[in-house]
Amino acid sequence: MAEKEIIIVANWKDNTTLADAHVLAMGVRNELEHIDGVRVVLCPPNVWVTEVRNIVHDQIHHMSVGLQDISGEPAGLGTGEVAAELVKDIVDYAIIGHSERLNLYHESVETLQDKIHAALSFNIKPIICIGEEKQSSASKGALTRRLEQLLKDVPITKRNQCLVAYEPIWAISGGPGQPARAASPEYASDVMAALRKAVPATVPILYGGSVTPQNVVQFLAKPEIDGVLVGGASLRLRDFAELVKNAARLA
Ligand code: PGA
Repeated sequence: MAEKEIIIVANWKDNTTLADAHVLAMGVRNELEHIDGVRVVLCPPNVWVTEVRNIVHDQIHHMSVGLQDISGEPAGLGTGEVAAELVKDIVDYAIIGHSERLNLYHESVETLQDKIHAALSFNIKPIICIGEEKQSSASKGALTRRLEQLLKDVPITKRNQCLVAYEPIWAISGGPGQPARAASPEYASDVMAALRKAVPATVPILYGGSVTPQNVVQFLAKPEIDGVLVGGASLRLRDFAELVKNAARLA
C-alpha cells in the first residue's frame, strides 16, 4: 500500500481546440473529483492553461495544471515564449525537456538548465523528462549522468521541488494506428532505481511511454515508480478516467 500521493500527469501535447480542451477538462473534473490519493496534473497546450485551470484548480484540491514547456529567459523580450513570472499564479508544474521538443527544437542541456532554474524561481515545479533513444540497460549510467548535469546548479533545498519523468523515447506512442509498446515495468523500474541515486528521496520519479488503463497498475506496483506521465490515453476521457481510478485503488 503506497502512503504517498500517486502523481498522474496528462500531457495533451499539441492537441485540443479551446472547445475540446473545455470539454475534456470538464469531463476529467466530473469523473475524478472524488478520487483519493492521486494528484492529477493536466497539461493542455500552453495557450489553454487558464481555461483548464478555471475548470479544475480552484474547486478540486487534488487537481493541478501544468505547462508543456516554459521559457528559460526572464519575462520581456521572448516573443512567442511563456515566462515563468507570467504564469506563476496559474500553473503549479511545467514539463521540461520532453523528447518531442528535444527532437524538434534541439534544446541543449544549458537551455534545459535555464528552464529548470526559471520555473523554480517562481515556485513552478519542473517535471524533468529524461529517456534513451533505444532500449538498452547500458543507458542507465548515461541517463543518470544527464540528470545530474541538468540538476547541477539546483541547490539541494530546491531539488525537493522537482519531479523526474523517465520516458524511454522508444516507448512513447506514435499516434493513431501506432501500436503501443510500453517498457516492461521491470525494465523501467531498473532504470528508475539508477535515476533515484541522482535525486533526493522526496523527488517523485514518474514513468511515461504508452501508459494505458490496463498497464498502469503494473507500473505503479513497482516501489521505484511514483506516478505516470500519460500522452495518448490522456486525450480519451474514458481511458484517462479508468486509468486514474485504477491507480487510485493502489493509493
Ligand atoms: P504516450 O506519450 O503516453 O502517448 O506514449 C507519453 C509522452 O510522450 O509524454
